Amino acid sequence: MCEIRAKIAGLGKFLPDRILTNADLEKMVDTSDEWITTRTGIKERRIAADDVFASDLATEAAKRALDDAGMSAEEIELIIVAGVTPDMYTPSTSCIVQKNIGAVNAAAFDLNAACSGFIYAMTAANQFISSGMYKNVLIIGAECLSKVVEYKDRNTCVLFGDGAGAAVLTAATDGTGVLGSVLGADGAGGECLTLCGIREDEIDKERRPYGNTRTIWMDGSKVMKFAVRVMANSTKEVLENVGKTLDETKLIIPHQANKRIIDGAAKRLECDNDKIFSNVDKYGNMSAACVPIALCEAVESGKLTRGDLFVLVGFGGGLTWGSTAIIY
Ligand code: ACO
Repeated sequence: MCEIRAKIAGLGKFLPDRILTNADLEKMVDTSDEWITTRTGIKERRIAADDVFASDLATEAAKRALDDAGMSAEEIELIIVAGVTPDMYTPSTSCIVQKNIGAVNAAAFDLNAACSGFIYAMTAANQFISSGMYKNVLIIGAECLSKVVEYKDRNTCVLFGDGAGAAVLTAATDGTGVLGSVLGADGAGGECLTLCGIREDEIDKERRPYGNTRTIWMDGSKVMKFAVRVMANSTKEVLENVGKTLDETKLIIPHQANKRIIDGAAKRLECDNDKIFSNVDKYGNMSAACVPIALCEAVESGKLTRGDLFVLVGFGGGLTWGSTAIIY
């Protein structure tokens, strides 16, 4: 019998129906489908209705993951929601989800590691499970970024979308599940991607000529250089740590910020593009929701089947990054 690991028992995703295309954005700001497609690979993104928030998206994704796992909400002992767009400072999104799905036996907390959030959540959940503290943990990446995007700013408004993805994790000793993770942070580099909370410094106001500091600002090219480097490095590092190779890996599922970042990482890793999952064209960057939605779609499309080794890898605000090697 193997050590106790967090195994993926079920997956679910939820995306709002409303689609914002590049053609729609051409009417809103000075941009073009050609610029957006060549610079980012994004064709469209989903936008939640005005009265729909991250907790609503998270709740739907959670219900679908529970269905997929054949588990009831009462069996869940811990809920972790990763994201940067909580409905409120308190109660946390995870507590709202706990109420909505009736997970009356679950502890609940939110985790903010920006776009790396789902990988941090997967790693934390694996620690709770492998220590024996919990058997069944629900992790969710949920974002309503359209609420914090300035739709007058062409530098950012073409990039982001809304969605949620969830995974039910359960204790397993059959050799599958999370083999290992690498997490990292560089707070000193955090200035290149910001979204204000209570504190608003002069610099935050200057950076946002349209006035609202509760919108995303970033130095895109700095983030991009950092992203390509850490995506490749942390994929290599996690595989090395768990004693596996890229050849043995069926699929790499990266954070979906930009097709050029994904292709750049593939080049650095010297691996075929078809080993790297991408759905960035359909949804854009949904921060913490990208990785679980991509994982869900990798399974739905048959690219990942039981027994396959895969790597989740991401980077984001903080700055943060992470990777985790898992046998599905
Ligand atoms: N349409 C047309 N032109 C545009 C647009 C647009 N939507 N946006 C910017 N431009 C212009 C710029 O103004 C600039 O013009 P200038 O040369 O006259 O000044 C020109 O295009 C080039 O801009 P760059 O910033 O150099 O373009 P780049 O090739 O770096 O692409 C992008 C920009 C897509 C933002 C890229 O840098 C990127 O994807 N960075 C990573 C972002 C990311 O991954 N963030 C993830 C974390 S998000 C999170 O954690 C919440």
